[in-house]
Amino acid sequence: MSKPVVLITGANGEIGRSLLKRLHTDGRYRVVTVDLTPLPESYRGFCLETYAGNIMDRYLLDQIAAHHEIEVVFHLAALLSTRGERDPDLAHQVNVEGTLHLLRMAQNQSGRLGRAVRFLFPSSIAVYGLPNVEEKKKAGRVVEEEWCVPITMYGCNKLYCEHLGRYFTNHFRQLGALSDVSRLDFRALRFPGLISAETVPTGGTSDFGPEMIHAAAQKLPYSCFVGPEAQIPFMTMNDATRSLLMLLEAKKEALTSTVYNVSGFSVSAQQIADRVRMAFPDAKIDWKLDEVRARIVDSWPEDIDDGRARRDWGWKPTFEFERAFDEYLLPTIRQRYA
Ligand code: SER
Repeated sequence: MSKPVVLITGANGEIGRSLLKRLHTDGRYRVVTVDLTPLPESYRGFCLETYAGNIMDRYLLDQIAAHHEIEVVFHLAALLSTRGERDPDLAHQVNVEGTLHLLRMAQNQSGRLGRAVRFLFPSSIAVYGLPNVEEKKKAGRVVEEEWCVPITMYGCNKLYCEHLGRYFTNHFRQLGALSDVSRLDFRALRFPGLISAETVPTGGTSDFGPEMIHAAAQKLPYSCFVGPEAQIPFMTMNDATRSLLMLLEAKKEALTSTVYNVSGFSVSAQQIADRVRMAFPDAKIDWKLDEVRARIVDSWPEDIDDGRARRDWGWKPTFEFERAFDEYLLPTIRQRYA
């Protein structure tokens, strides 16, 4: 039997590239990708086929579905939170309408195959919205149902798409008595800020973490756009892609929800700066507040409770703060800019 086919949208983004490498090493799937920009040559070898195109192009998605028996979708394409505030209309189009196109495609595919296509969706800490720092401190680690009142377009988009995914999985065409086997199987992870040793994010608001580390490694000065006290959870890219695959492989019967928090470690911007200075004593870091972006970070919880993921499918991050630096970030980053 040939290996099942996985479709990755936004494959050329940060999560996409890391996931491509992991799937290649893993070797159990054949991978088809779509992204606005063509994948670099070095990643193309990991794929059965790559498409350069827009997820808003329904004709392209139909064509991809007609050519491949897609059993799993990782829908990673999105505009992140800062970029989304600069162009909310476009964010809505890509993040919501684009996701709807993919859900529809996966739904049709499930009907065609007669079994549920698994649809993996990276949601975000941005679905939460705390009204002020005082409440944020009081709230501490939040569970999935708390504080779902986002203040960004991106957060609204992700929260709504979680609902869409749950709807497609449990209720789609309920009046038409669509049989359960032909409904898709949607699974979402709410990621904290992600830090990769290999790539730098663009257009996000948790970007101050990775930017600070990558700037220091390149001996570049860095002005941090949030204050030293700003605190949110982060996770290494390594753990992020590992959690995606763990959730993909989890038995449906074990899942009590379609949405799961996952977290690595919760740290302040000051703690990141201190740790970066320890690794790169010449690092030049100062603080230059961007009030709007700082306000967005303040609206995100100090930490998220990932107990549900731990209980249902055995989630546990590999790296806490110190080990993330010592064993993952620093060795790879040093090598990268050497
Ligand atoms: N990293 C994302 C952002 O900053 C949050 O999911 O927008």
